[in-house]
Amino acid sequence: MNTNITLFLSLLIFSILFYSSLSDLCNPDDLKALLNIKQAFNNPYVLASWDPNKNCCHWYCVDCDSNNRIKTLSISYGDLSGPIPVAVGDLPYLERLDLRKLTNLTGPIQRSIVKLKNLKFLRLSWTNLSGSIPDFLGELNNLTFLDLSHNNLSGSIPGSLSKLQNLNALHLDRNKLTGPIPESFGAFNGKVPSLYLSHNQLSGKIPSSLSNMDFNIIDLSRNKLEGDASFLFRINKRTQQLDVSRNLLEFNLSTVKFSMNLTSLDLNHNKIFGSIPTQLTSVDLQSFNVSYNRLCGQIPFGGKLQSFDYSSYFHNKCLCGAPLESCK
Ligand SMILES: *[C@@H]1O[C@H](CO)[C@@H](O)[C@H](O)[C@H]1NC(C)=O
Ligand SMILES: *[C@@H]1O[C@H](CO)[C@@H](O)[C@H](O)[C@H]1NC(C)=O
Ligand SMILES: *[C@@H]1O[C@H](CO)[C@@H](O)[C@H](O)[C@H]1NC(C)=O
Ligand SMILES: *[C@@H]1O[C@H](CO)[C@@H](O)[C@H](O)[C@H]1NC(C)=O
Ligand SMILES: *[C@@H]1O[C@H](CO)[C@@H](O)[C@H](O)[C@H]1NC(C)=O
Ligand SMILES: *[C@@H]1O[C@H](CO)[C@@H](O)[C@H](O)[C@H]1NC(C)=O
Ligand SMILES: *[C@@H]1O[C@H](CO)[C@@H](O)[C@H](O)[C@H]1NC(C)=O
Repeated sequence: MNTNITLFLSLLIFSILFYSSLSDLCNPDDLKALLNIKQAFNNPYVLASWDPNKNCCHWYCVDCDSNNRIKTLSISYGDLSGPIPVAVGDLPYLERLDLRKLTNLTGPIQRSIVKLKNLKFLRLSWTNLSGSIPDFLGELNNLTFLDLSHNNLSGSIPGSLSKLQNLNALHLDRNKLTGPIPESFGAFNGKVPSLYLSHNQLSGKIPSSLSNMDFNIIDLSRNKLEGDASFLFRINKRTQQLDVSRNLLEFNLSTVKFSMNLTSLDLNHNKIFGSIPTQLTSVDLQSFNVSYNRLCGQIPFGGKLQSFDYSSYFHNKCLCGAPLESCK
């Protein structure tokens, strides 16, 4: 009787220990995918801790969820080179894919990424990825953050990205993107993301559909956008930061109404004409720049407008009044 109990107890303890240690191990399919990734990158030093005899949940650059499935793959400043391995698509529970500051990461955006249905955070930034931004990224429904900035991406922006219902921020800045801003960016299906498209070669008119959107931050600076941008402003907008500097924009500023929520406005280096509206004195601006345009007339006195130095206003057609010279 006693020995039976002892035997039973030891078996119980053994199996608890055995199974708990087993369930602690990373999933064999994830293990295989990670080893394929390591091999595709030619066993780089940054992945030296990826030892198949150790629990992969404890490896460098990865994290597991509570079911010991790989949830995060995040590599930066490593000695990786070559294209993104196909095997990244074989981590079905991945929520965060972050490859950053990898000078020698090249080639196109890997198609197998579309299999990562749980992906919430995708950052491929400060790398040397080339080719176009693929349409299929619009299928990653759960994305809240998409950052492809600082790459060598070319071609036009796919309109399909506006299908991403949960997106908080879209960073496509500092690439070689051409063509227009997609019309569909005036109709994001769910949330309205902050939009960063600066330092590209985007051209044509800003689609007027964008007037429907309440971007928190919108940065279209350093492109070749032309025509009107006045529809980006409205008295009841929530937009806080708006930068369209260094484009070819040409519109009359005189009748534009600015929202009280605007804190930062940069219009420098365009062909904007007319005068600075008096209504701007009631906006609590923290930063402001209308230099290098074709503005004229007296700078309205009051609010924050005299707190900016002359370089916020210089190089216009005939602006005058503080902080510039007084009007004649
Ligand atoms: C990138 O590749 C170049 C040329 O092969 C090499 O000299 C450089 O060290 C690599 N950079 C990194 C961070 O691995
Ligand atoms: C891309 O590669 C070029 C040349 O190999 C290098 O000068 C540049 O810094 C790289 N870009 C990034 C973002 O790493
Ligand atoms: C988003 O993630 C949830 C789990 O977090 C999952 O159930 C759902 O299928 C995912 N959405 C899509 C479109 O795959
Ligand atoms: C960047 O793209 C250009 C073509 O747009 C190509 O000539 C260049 O080699 C690419 N640079 C890298 C580092 O991939
Ligand atoms: C401006 O921001 C405040 C919160 O800071 C918000 O309550 C208000 O609704 C915003 N105004 C508009 C017009 O969106
Ligand atoms: C800009 O619009 C204002 C108000 O409608 C108008 O008086 C002015 O002549 C316009 N300026 C130019 C340069 O067209
Ligand atoms: C405004 O922009 C111009 C042109 O880029 C720049 O020279 C100037 O320093 C800026 N002024 C302020 C106050 O940011």
